[in-house]
Amino acid sequence: MKGQLETIYHEGCEAVQKISDLKALEEIRVKILGRKGSLTALLHGLKDLPSEKRAAAGQMANEVKQQLSRLIEKRTVELKNFGWSSDMKQNIDSTLPGRPPEMGRLHILNCTLREIEDIFTAMGFAVVEGPEVETDYYNFESMNFPAEHPARDMHDTFFISDKILLRTHTSPVQMRLMEEQSPPIRAIMPGKTYRVDDDATHSAMFHQVEGLLVDREVSFAELKAVLALFIRRMFGEEAQLRFRPSFFPFTEPSAEVDMTCVKCAGRGCSLCKGTGWMEILGAGMVHPKVLRAGRIDPETYTGFAFGMGVERIAMLKYGIDNIRLFFENDLRFLEQF
Ligand code: PHE
Repeated sequence: MKGQLETIYHEGCEAVQKISDLKALEEIRVKILGRKGSLTALLHGLKDLPSEKRAAAGQMANEVKQQLSRLIEKRTVELKNFGWSSDMKQNIDSTLPGRPPEMGRLHILNCTLREIEDIFTAMGFAVVEGPEVETDYYNFESMNFPAEHPARDMHDTFFISDKILLRTHTSPVQMRLMEEQSPPIRAIMPGKTYRVDDDATHSAMFHQVEGLLVDREVSFAELKAVLALFIRRMFGEEAQLRFRPSFFPFTEPSAEVDMTCVKCAGRGCSLCKGTGWMEILGAGMVHPKVLRAGRIDPETYTGFAFGMGVERIAMLKYGIDNIRLFFENDLRFLEQF
């Protein structure tokens, strides 16, 4: 009896370990532990043993039964988790195409920025960048915002210390460029800008593209022509511009530029509040004081500058009404573009 139990145990263990599919494992279980299994038969035979041997043999038989059951259970879990049963293997159609890998894509703001860059580089503008952490001098002072000047209130500034701040616009890059380069200068300056501001159309961090052209005899008419071409390339041939007088310390004269409403094409709707126009950028002729601070002689040279918000352009172009959508990284939003 003892010998038979040992054989069943060892053969059982070996078979279970070798098995690699669930169906064959079930067959082994039935062969040993099933109603007509070898171990079951042995257990039935116990009653024929002399009573003094029966208890010890019974105990041993039960132990073998328990251990084999546990082993089979463990192997079942293993095969379910890691292995493939033979019928799964048979059901795999290796001629089917695989699952396509998910493709990443450029963020809509990057696409918009690249589009802007492409339009201006085609017109001969270079792309230049500057620091996001700026000094008071470049962000304000050199751009003709003297200390205590009320125009500083137009910018709600994140100050890092008395003289260090997060740039509130990309205009300081104009100054850095003028210091470095003598005219002709023709460049756009994209980058992140920061203001203490937060609502549906403003976020504390946003992107601007600055433009600067300095040369002999640059006129306001050229500014208009460059911006009109830009707007048509960006929004389509029907898009029109209008200039409204405005104020910036670093340009004179200054203008705010509107384009025909993207939604109603100028007829007047809720988006443009019935006017038919939407503001899209600020611009003007570079102030002589600014040229001088940039070591350029305003008697010889003139220039124009403009600045636009990338989020604003993207919102107008794609009909997005909340700036936060750009920064939440919700794929349901991002994948639409
Ligand atoms: N820097 C201005 C702003 O952020 C925009 C601007 C740039 C206006 C260049 C005129 C010329 O509001």
